[in-house]
Amino acid sequence: MVEFTLPKNSKVREGKTWPQPAGAQELREYRIYRWNPEDGENPRIDTYYVDTHDCGPMILDALIYIKNKIDPTLTFRRSCREGVCGSCAMNIDGTNTLACTRGMDEVKSGPIKIYPLPHQPVVKDLVPDLTNFYAQHASVQPWLQTVTATPEKEWRQSKEERDKLDGLYECILCACCSTSCPSYWWNPERYLGPAALLQARRWLNDSRDEATGQRLDSLEDPFKLYRCHTIMNCTKACPKSLNPAKAIAEIKADMVERQV
Ligand code: SF4
Ligand code: SF4
Ligand code: FES
Repeated sequence: MVEFTLPKNSKVREGKTWPQPAGAQELREYRIYRWNPEDGENPRIDTYYVDTHDCGPMILDALIYIKNKIDPTLTFRRSCREGVCGSCAMNIDGTNTLACTRGMDEVKSGPIKIYPLPHQPVVKDLVPDLTNFYAQHASVQPWLQTVTATPEKEWRQSKEERDKLDGLYECILCACCSTSCPSYWWNPERYLGPAALLQARRWLNDSRDEATGQRLDSLEDPFKLYRCHTIMNCTKACPKSLNPAKAIAEIKADMVERQV
C-alpha cells in the first residue's frame, strides 16, 4: 500500500530551549533549525533568546550572538555582512533572504523562525549544499566568448551597450530565487532555475560576446528554460531587487525571434 506519511528520519522534532542570557534588558526569541549529519538524530528546532541591547540590529548579528555567547555548535555561512557575498542566504520567517540585510525589527512580532534555504540537501544546520546550483551556473558558461582576434587594449563597449547589463551583473548568486521557485523544486536536476538563467541573459546581452547562437542553442530544451511558468516567486525573493522572471521571458522572446 502507498504510504503518504513522511519518513521517520525527516520529521522535525522540538529541540532544546537554551537558557536566557543573564541580566538581559530586552529579549527576542529565535527558533532555529538544527541538523547534524553525524549524530544520527532527526532535525530539531532549538529555541534561543537574544539580548537585543547587547546585539547588532540584523538577523546575522543575532546568529553571531548565539554562536559566540550561547551555542558555539550553531552552523551557518556568512562572510561580507554587507549583502555582497550571498553566503548568508537562508529562510527567515518564511522568506528566502540574506540574514545580514534583514533587520530583526522587520519580523514584527513573535519568535523569529530560521531554516536553511528550502529544497536543497542540508550539509549542517543552516548550511545548504549548493553543488548542483553552482554546476548549473557553470553550465551557462558565464564568461566572455569571442571568435575575432583579441584587441590589443580592450574590448570596447558603448555606454548604451553597457547599460544593457544593468539588472543582471549585480547577481550575487545567493540562490534565494532558485530555491523559492516551484518549478525548480520539482526539477532541480533538469530546470536551470532563475539564477542560472539570469546569468545566461547577462551574457546574451553583452555586446562583446560572440557566442549568442550557441548560448541559445544550449537553452533550447524542454526543461532547462521552458520549465519556467512565470510564477514570479524568484523576482519577489531576490534580495538585490533583480528580476530573473523578466530575464527568462526575454530569453524566451529571443528564441521565438530567431525562428521567424
Ligand atoms: S518566474 Fe519562472 S523562474 Fe521565477 S519562480 Fe516562477 S517559474 Fe520559477
Ligand atoms: S537573482 Fe537575486 S536572488 Fe537570484 S541568485 Fe541572484 S541575487 Fe540571489
Ligand atoms: S554575509 Fe555576505 S551577503 Fe550576507
